[in-house]
Parts: sequence; structure tokens; C-alpha cells
Amino acid sequence: MVCSVVLTSTSFAAPYVQGKLFDAAVDAYHAKKRVDEAFAQDVAPLLAILGGLYGLSWVMEIFVGILFAVAAHTALTRLRCAMFANLVQQDVAFYDAHVSGELSSRLINDSVQLQTLVQFVTQDVLKAAVRIIGGVLAMYLTHPLLGLLATAITPINWLIIRKAGTVQGLYGAVQNASIAKANSAAIEALGCMRTVHANTGELREARRFASHIRRFLRVVLVTVHSQTVVIFTQLLLSQLRDVLVLGVGMHQVIAGEITIGNFTAFTQYVGLFEQGFSSGASIWLSVRQTLVSAGRFVQLLERRPHVRPDEGRQPFARCRGHLALQNVSFHYPASREALVLDSVSLEAPPGSIVALVGASGAGKSTIARLIERFYDPTSGALLLDGVDFRELELRWLRRQIGFVEQEPTLFDRSIAENVRYGAPEADDAQVQRAIELANAAEFISELPEGLETNPGERGVRLSGGQKQRIAIARAVLKQPALLLLDEATSALDSANEAAVTLALDQLMLERTTVVIAHRLSTVVRATQILVLSRGVVVERGTHTQLVADERSHYATFMKAQLVSPDAPMSAPGTRLVSLAAA
Ligand SMILES: Nc1ncnc2c1ncn2[C@@H]1O[C@H](COP(=O)(O)OP(=O)(O)OP(=O)(O)O)[C@@H](O)[C@H]1O
Ligand SMILES: [Mg+2]
Repeated sequence: MVCSVVLTSTSFAAPYVQGKLFDAAVDAYHAKKRVDEAFAQDVAPLLAILGGLYGLSWVMEIFVGILFAVAAHTALTRLRCAMFANLVQQDVAFYDAHVSGELSSRLINDSVQLQTLVQFVTQDVLKAAVRIIGGVLAMYLTHPLLGLLATAITPINWLIIRKAGTVQGLYGAVQNASIAKANSAAIEALGCMRTVHANTGELREARRFASHIRRFLRVVLVTVHSQTVVIFTQLLLSQLRDVLVLGVGMHQVIAGEITIGNFTAFTQYVGLFEQGFSSGASIWLSVRQTLVSAGRFVQLLERRPHVRPDEGRQPFARCRGHLALQNVSFHYPASREALVLDSVSLEAPPGSIVALVGASGAGKSTIARLIERFYDPTSGALLLDGVDFRELELRWLRRQIGFVEQEPTLFDRSIAENVRYGAPEADDAQVQRAIELANAAEFISELPEGLETNPGERGVRLSGGQKQRIAIARAVLKQPALLLLDEATSALDSANEAAVTLALDQLMLERTTVVIAHRLSTVVRATQILVLSRGVVVERGTHTQLVADERSHYATFMKAQLVSPDAPMSAPGTRLVSLAAA
């Protein structure tokens, strides 16, 4: 900053020396000195000083430029890291309300605007300030009357710029919102290309993107127009001012009130003042516009999640896995009117298997999400080994749970990394064992790079069943006290399902399991079955108890499958399709 101020200050010395040069030459002419002698004595030293000044400003210009660029890029990198770290710590409800395209737009676009603000504005603000203050001082010290004339148009200029600033501020927000929407549209379409192609939606997606980006263009054009009006009005006013200053100035030169050298220096001070004023104005305009995105960025940067992952306590070294839900009612934060769970209670002692069944949309996966503490219940409580979830450290709680989601997600990183995602410290032998338990070893060994194969974005290069088995291996590797299986084997064929179920059976013996399944084989073995209907537990009991009442929901489900309640329960692949996919 000091360099920047010094650098700009030296730019005032150059016109002064130039003015002295002119006067020295004119004086030598009038004194009828010998040309070579006058040049060597009067002009050459001033030329050397001028050269030195230019050299100094050149070196400092480079130095200051690099310094500001490095500082701004470093600040930008830090900002982006801090922003991303903060983004990934937000609670799940936050992601229900924000699309990823919008967030990535904030992370990349808004931060670039901030960086521009930091890099150019801080640097140029100093330059502009020095030029404006120095310019006014130099002008008034050289010739007060001419100084007054040269600055007479400044208030009018300022009024025009203020008007433009209001327009810029108004449209800045719309501009950012429309680029974020275009970004979301592109990310959404590119992430679902199979669905887009299958439904011949290519052109529709292209049009959707174009409509957002054209809106952005329209807004940009409005701001460009307002900037153009400002630039041309300023140009016109400054040209009028120049003619006036030149006229009065020449009059003063002829009258002997100012030397030609001082007047030349004066015109350069006007130029420096002018540069300072217009760069100050454009900084003010871009700040007006950038403040919107900067505000949004800072807001997001400072957003604290509802629950911090490291808050709370770790009550026991080893969790037994006693899970209880006490009168749990819940609605999603995004839709406050719709109660998804209504006074759900369940007790799952260590080692027990609880099966959740019910029609699609009944709230089964929602229970799994509450157990993962993606959300807190609206009323009621969830307890692990007798301790309320809200008292437990979130990170610790999640380490106790192995969750196989209904739609498992894989990262485009090696399969080994995917399996290790929940237990990064696991060694190769443990990874191999988890893969074997999930019956995934055979297909992985057939992949070109085995465990090092990348499965593509969201696992696009694998089949649904293969993805599920990797997700099961991931959950198993965590050696959790609580296993949450949300239709974990729904995409597997009978043979694979039988093998995975057999392996999971051993695991289930040692831990508490909550299973959401539409396969009879899994449900039948459960210690307790909860039948959900529109978020309410309508029946509970073992398979034998529930089928005893022919009019029970459970028995009706069975009949709907055309499966006799007495059918061989362990038959793998026998589906209770309506329970989960009705
Ligand atoms: N993030 C969300 N925001 C708002 N509502 C949601 C959200 N997720 C689910 N819902 C709603 O909650 C209800 C229960 O959904 P849930 O996923 O628990 O059903 P499910 O029993 O698992 O169904 P399925 O068998 O089809 O998987 C549904 O009506 C659904 O529309
Ligand atoms: Mg579900």
C-alpha cells in the first residue's frame, strides 16, 4: 500500500520536472545562450531526473502489480477453501433448500467478484485517492483560478455517477441470480444425461439454459448502457472543460501570469486528477454491484449449521446399539404443513432386527434419516443407549451407524476409496473382507483395474446391484453398532441377494439393525416389524403375530403380493413389492 501511494505520488513529480524543462528551454532561448551549453547545463540534468523518475515508477509499478495480484489470489484461495469447508458442514435441511448449481456459482463466480474487488479496488482506490487529492492540491498551488475552472464540472459528474450507481446496485443482484440459475440448469442437465436422452430432452435443456443465460445478457446490457452513458457524458464534460481551461490558460500565459512550463505541468495535473476521478467512479460503480454478491458470499461464509459436528459428548467408548424412538413426530423443514411422522415409537435392544414396512411415501426412509440425525424430530426424542441424540456428538453418533441408502451414491474415485469412505483408517485386509461380505469381490476382480477402478460420476459405470454391494461394503467396514439398511438389496438378483443376506445375517447378530425391505426373507426374520401408514405406526409385532390377523394391514400386503402367509419365508427373492414400491 505504501508502495502504491509512493508510486502515484511520483507521477506528480514528472509533470513538475517537465514544466521546468520547458521553462529552462524557453529561458535559454530568451537569454540567447549557446545551444549546446544551455542544453548541457539547464536541460540535461532535468532530463536525467525525469528519466530517473520514470525508471522508479516503472520498477514500482511492476512490484506493486505483482504484490497485489499475489495477495488477491492468495486471499481468493483462502476464501474458497473456507467457503467450501463451511458449505460441507451445513445441515442436510440446508441442501434441501439450495440447489448445488447455485452454491457452486457462489463458490466460483461470487468469489471471483470478491477477488476483483480485493485486487483491483484496494490497489486502485489508493491510486485514485492520491491522484484526486494530489491533483487538486497541485492545480490550486500552480494557479488557483485555473484550478477552480478545472474542478467546476466535478459535482455534475458526481451526480451522474451516483445515478448510474443506483442502477448498477439494482441490477447487480439480478445479474448474479440469473448466472446462478444458468449454472444450475447446466449442472442439472449434465448430471442427468441419461434421463435427458431417454426423454429426448436435449433441445429443451439447451433452450432452458439459453433462456437463463439470455436473461443474464439482458441484465448485463442494461448495466453496459448505463456505463456507456456515464463514460460519454464524462468525456463530453471533460472536453468542454479542457477547451475552457486552455482558453483561460493561454490568456494567462500571454498576460505573464503563468509560465508556459507551469501551464504544461498544470494540464498534466488536470489529466492526473481526471484519471483519479474516473477510476474512483468506476471503482464505486463496481463496488455497488459487487457488494450484492460479496454480501451473499459473506452471509454463506458465516452461516453456522444448526448442529456443529463436533458439539456434544461421546458418552461411551463402545456403543451397545440400543436404539429407541419416543413419540417421534416430524415434518420436513421445507414443507411445514405435511406431518411425515406422527408419534412413532420403537424400541430396538442391542442385536435386534427392526423391519419397517409400509406403502411408498409412508415415512420409512424418513425414520432412517432421523436415525442418521440428518434432521431433528419436530417433537419426541431419539435415544442411543439411553442418551438423547441431541446430547451426543454428531460425528461420534454417525460413526456408530452404517447406513446403506435407498439410492447409494458413489464418488468418482477408486472403488477402494469408496469402500473406505466411512472408515479411512481401515487396512487393505479389512477392505477385502468387507467386499467379500458384501459379495462384491468377484465382480470387482473382473473390472480392468480391480479395486482401483473409478466407477464414474455417481457410479455411472456400474450396475445398480454392483453399486448397492459397494455401499454395503462401505457400511460394513465401519463395523457399526447400528446398521441401517434402506432397501439395501433391492437391486440385487435372487442369487446375489441370498449371498449378501447370508453375510448380513452374521453381521446382524452382532449389532442392532433397522431394515427397510420389500423382500419377505428379510422382513420375516425381524425381531419386530413396524407397519407404517402415512407416518403412523398402524401395527407392530413379529411376522407370526401379524399374519395371525387376516384383516391386518400386514396380511393384506401379503395377499396383495399373492403370497400366502404360509409361503416358505426364507425363499430368497420373494418380493413384497407393494410394501416398498406401491
Ligand atoms: N427432503 C424432503 N423434503 C420434503 N418432503 C420430503 C422430503 N423427503 C421426503 N419427503 C416426503 O416425506 C414423505 C415420506 O417420504 P419417505 O422417503 O420417508 O417415504 P418411504 O416410506 O421411504 O417411501 P418409499 O418406499 O417410496 O421409499 C413423502 O411424502 C415425501 O414426499
Ligand atoms: Mg424410502
